[in-house]
Amino acid sequence: MKYDVKDLKLAEKGRLRIEWANEYMNVLSIVRKHFRRERPLKGLKISCCLHVTTETANLAITLKDGGAQVLVCASNPLSTQDDVSASMVRDFKISTFAIKGEDNKTYYRHIKNVLEPGPNITMDDGADLVSTIHKEKRHLVGNILGGTEETTTGVIRLRNLEKKHLLLYPIIAVNDANTKHLFDNRYGTGQSTVDGIIRATNILLSGTNFVVCGYGWCGKGVSMRAKGMGANVVIVETNPLKALEAVMDGYSVMPLKEACKKGDIFVTLTGDRSVIRKEHFELMKGGAIIANSGHFNIEIDIPALEKLSKAKRKIREFVEEYTLKDNRRINLLGEGRLINLAAAEGHPASVMDMSFANQALCCEYIAKNYKKLEKKVYKVPDFIDKNIAKLKLESLGVKIDSLTKEQEKYLDSWELGT
Ligand code: ADE
Repeated sequence: MKYDVKDLKLAEKGRLRIEWANEYMNVLSIVRKHFRRERPLKGLKISCCLHVTTETANLAITLKDGGAQVLVCASNPLSTQDDVSASMVRDFKISTFAIKGEDNKTYYRHIKNVLEPGPNITMDDGADLVSTIHKEKRHLVGNILGGTEETTTGVIRLRNLEKKHLLLYPIIAVNDANTKHLFDNRYGTGQSTVDGIIRATNILLSGTNFVVCGYGWCGKGVSMRAKGMGANVVIVETNPLKALEAVMDGYSVMPLKEACKKGDIFVTLTGDRSVIRKEHFELMKGGAIIANSGHFNIEIDIPALEKLSKAKRKIREFVEEYTLKDNRRINLLGEGRLINLAAAEGHPASVMDMSFANQALCCEYIAKNYKKLEKKVYKVPDFIDKNIAKLKLESLGVKIDSLTKEQEKYLDSWELGT
């Protein structure tokens, strides 16, 4: 079995952490039992490009229990948990290629490593795996039945491929399932981003001016949690509807240039590039803290910050302190990479449970239905999404009411009015 991890001696710690996460992944455990019985992925090769965390390990084990040969590489150079990748190799015999802090060359070499055997299904987080196939490895497409995509940024890239009629095989947009984005993006990113900022800096959030760029589901989650910890949250948006939502949710909304003058902490979660740039650094207060929690490290214009600076030093493990030519200091967290995975452990297992149950069940769906699928980006089938919500509620011990026959009939009718 081929692999490339930091140190197999870290495996024991990783194995225990994987076990811990598994305790909170009840829906995935149900899927795993079903996979062990039915083996719906028997004989399939699944190449995954995901953040290599304890939760991902449990997903990979589930796919293997479903009968698949599983290969995993990192979907970000800084998100790998080295103890987990070691345990995936040593304890679970999963071909893993991921080292925290790997350079770009190694990152893409690892992507090519997982593509080597020729996958039947691709599982991506951000679309670097799929874009590598489309750019350089088109000969693999003949073997591919379909793929899945985990995150908003990846889905946007794939929809652009589809729009240009360039998409070479069907992909299911796991991100767009209700049981994914309404929970993972909102509560997962909300908690883990604040966790990452605190672990990196140990600052008191209470009383700070906390600027959130982007009010999508991730931005909503971060804003809610920062507000809950006593920060004065300011929202920066370009979309009028989302900006209006932020106003009605009780936040201050203003252009970034204005927010720069008062902000203590800035977080980007927009999915777009160069959100915080030269003109913004020039206006910030000394001591400002800047972090990104969007998928790629392009939201903060780091080259512009470098240019404005006369010195930089690593002042804490995930904090680079830039001294500007006018002596103001700006602190950049986690090299501008997603701070929740760079400085903390990513989303907690109990929310990844739903995201990864979607991933596993979509693989089964592709294995059973690939002949019907076209070269399109598909929604997660509604029966999968609804079943995951039902199973999650059950696992939490929450019971809900059901409609009476009379109520069902009323909702199907039009006759009865005032
Ligand atoms: N994305 C965000 N948090 C994650 C986690 N814990 N595992 C895998 N992918 C993630």
